[in-house]
Amino acid sequence: MKTMSNEAKPEQQIESRGTNRSRTPNSPEFLAYIGSNWAEPNASLPALHEAAPFAAKRRKAVAEAFVERVILIAAGPAVTRSNDTEYRYRPHAAFAHLTGWGSATVPDSVLAIDTRGGSIKEILFFRETAGRDSEEFFANPAIGEFWVGARPGLAQVAALLGLETRSIRDLDLFVETAAAHTIELSNPALAEFVSELRLIKDDYEIAEMRKAIAASIEGFEAVARSLKPATKHPRGERIVETAFFAKARAEGNDLGYDTIAAAGSHACTLHWIVNNGEVRDGELILVDAGVEVDSFYTADITRTLPINGKFTDVQRHIYEAVREAADAVFAVAKPGLKFRDLHATAMKVIAQKTAELGLLPVSAQESLEQDKQFHRRWMVHGTSHHLGIDVHDCAQARREMYLDSELKPGMIFTIEPGLYFQPDDLLVPEELRGIGVRIEDDVLVTETGVENLSSALPRSADDVEAWLANFS
Ligand code: GLY
Ligand code: MN
Ligand code: MN
Repeated sequence: MKTMSNEAKPEQQIESRGTNRSRTPNSPEFLAYIGSNWAEPNASLPALHEAAPFAAKRRKAVAEAFVERVILIAAGPAVTRSNDTEYRYRPHAAFAHLTGWGSATVPDSVLAIDTRGGSIKEILFFRETAGRDSEEFFANPAIGEFWVGARPGLAQVAALLGLETRSIRDLDLFVETAAAHTIELSNPALAEFVSELRLIKDDYEIAEMRKAIAASIEGFEAVARSLKPATKHPRGERIVETAFFAKARAEGNDLGYDTIAAAGSHACTLHWIVNNGEVRDGELILVDAGVEVDSFYTADITRTLPINGKFTDVQRHIYEAVREAADAVFAVAKPGLKFRDLHATAMKVIAQKTAELGLLPVSAQESLEQDKQFHRRWMVHGTSHHLGIDVHDCAQARREMYLDSELKPGMIFTIEPGLYFQPDDLLVPEELRGIGVRIEDDVLVTETGVENLSSALPRSADDVEAWLANFS
């Protein structure tokens, strides 16, 4: 709606209004003054990053799969939260995997792998530090050094990552001259390849996953300590959520995904991230959380804990049923087993347990038939997914490489069965309504089976109770 005064005044252009609050003087005198008397920047070169040799091998695999091409892997832009505020920056997983740059990545960087002419040339384009001879360092809140901190120089990043580096200013011309040969992540063949390249983790990745899981276990200890204070706060779930978050930021880069802190019947909402509910003595709390370390590898762990330290008989019964389902998967997981059989194994136990509870209209065996699956009413999600830089890693892999593939040493995935009895489920006895349990561990396939990377957290009901007693 227009007003008289709006119509009468010559308007300041809308694009220029964002700087109303922070005008910087720009007289030549001021520019000369602010641009002078600065010490020479530190020109020393960092040591090669420990991820660099691993990233080089991964890039070689990409180069060999796409010959006579210029493969462009974009880190991606910072994502706007609102106006001129952005979310914490996170590059594309493929960029993180193929450079090893981790949380120091400069937004908008692009990795180019040029395989034309039978040789491989790799160049990392990024926006390097602006000199003190430009206005950028003090006047640009998006990228200026005075605002966001120093960005590294081309020589520093080249030394760190073992890659040729060039200014992002050269990228447009480079892409223009390579135009007919370029291939980007929007190409399904490339997206698929770089996703499948992460199915088997190398030694660096396995070590990073161990770090992420160790930090997450500390996070769960903080969660255990938070339970009692949480019962005294009207939004107790937030007390639990933030206890974990403090560890994620202190020990890692961030969370790998939003924490689920689901007390009481909130546990039946699979992705309950609102976390504004009460935490009540006598109920369970399901906490699904993972620390992402600086290299972006993340854990994904769930524990379902009795808030006052002791399971009731009914809670314990359901908890142990879920644990049996998980244990059954642990027992069969080894190289050669099909990935899809992880879920099938858990489902056999879930069908049997729901039958024993008298919930199924047919036998467990009949329920397991393809067109029946009644037991799935109480566990609608899958049992396992690959885990790594993305919490649901390798998501663009082909079915034959993921679900229909055999397990291979070096794969890392979750085992996470659950049982969820919605509070309004008329098919279950009242005493079960509102109980939701999930137990989620992160495992590494070895030559002979799987190693539970998150085994330092208790899994059985007895062990959970004994562990919680340490924090009460
Ligand atoms: N936290 C998401 C998942 O468990 O897959
Ligand atoms: Mn998971
Ligand atoms: Mn999870």
